[in-house]
Amino acid sequence: MSKPKVLVTRKWPAEVEQQLQRLYEVTLNEQDIAMSDDELKAAMQNYDAVLPSVTEQITADILNVENKRAKILGNFGVGFNHIDIEAAKANGIVVTNTPGVLTDCTADIAMLLLLMSARRGSEGERQIRNQTWTGWQPTHLLGHKVSGKTLGLIGFGRIAQAVAQRAHFGFGMKIIFFNPSTASENIIEKYQAVQCNSIEEVLSQANFVSLHCPGGEATRHLINEKRLRLMQPSAHLINTARGDVVDSKALIKALKEDWIAGAGLDVFEGEPNIDKGFLDMENVSLLPHLGSATEETRIAMGNLVLKNLAAFFAGEEPGDRVI
Ligand code: 8YV
Repeated sequence: MSKPKVLVTRKWPAEVEQQLQRLYEVTLNEQDIAMSDDELKAAMQNYDAVLPSVTEQITADILNVENKRAKILGNFGVGFNHIDIEAAKANGIVVTNTPGVLTDCTADIAMLLLLMSARRGSEGERQIRNQTWTGWQPTHLLGHKVSGKTLGLIGFGRIAQAVAQRAHFGFGMKIIFFNPSTASENIIEKYQAVQCNSIEEVLSQANFVSLHCPGGEATRHLINEKRLRLMQPSAHLINTARGDVVDSKALIKALKEDWIAGAGLDVFEGEPNIDKGFLDMENVSLLPHLGSATEETRIAMGNLVLKNLAAFFAGEEPGDRVI
């Protein structure tokens, strides 16, 4: 029997690509150049499985292409707001993702940004690199203490809970959160957390706010000007979720006009084309979407896609089926 035809849209860790080559008739993207919409349409027509990443917008236009062969999109990542899920469903295409395996590393990046923003790490490093550091001073680059402060989480899924674990047990932080559904008693008890009734309540009480909700239309500009104005002037906003959850223009205004003290961002609206307004401000720490970027996690993500594909082609239910 011939092997299923599989297309990988971006370059993956070598050991996962080797497994793909062993198991499937696979086309890899060795140059790692992002694919055009026309190339993605052709992929839907010529392959049994397409394995996309966050850099491809899998729109209804692509999914509705005629003479489709693809039956499964094995997404490399947990977030799937770049895939038009309704269009995939209407076309009978299975979509899987990679939850769980990137939780710890993404939570680490949220803590990294929280600490960078609170302790003005990026500013300090810039001074050294620019050779503008003139030596120790009692009032040089004073930041905000992290230990014992209140961390507000918007969304309370796996990654938010892993951040709570680090913040509560590592830094003695008080955890408050907003989540659309009620969190389990056990988890609340574990972190001695408080579930708030509204996003506004979290924003006004927290010293640090970290975003952990899915991207997409339902959460677009969830953090807008009105909500940013509710935060404390000494508070910091951390975003490792999706760029469009925050209205960038409003955040730039908030940082410029000192409504808040700082922000730590790993994701951006329209990334990698970042709003230039972020670039000349000192009180924002910027990372290029590094949430899951460790060797261990990217290999684990690839292996999970392999597991989902294997189940699908064996006629079984993939473990991480989104639809
Ligand atoms: C991934 C992420 O690297 O999994 C996610 O949702 O945001 C990232 O950690 C990216 O999605 C890869 O496609």
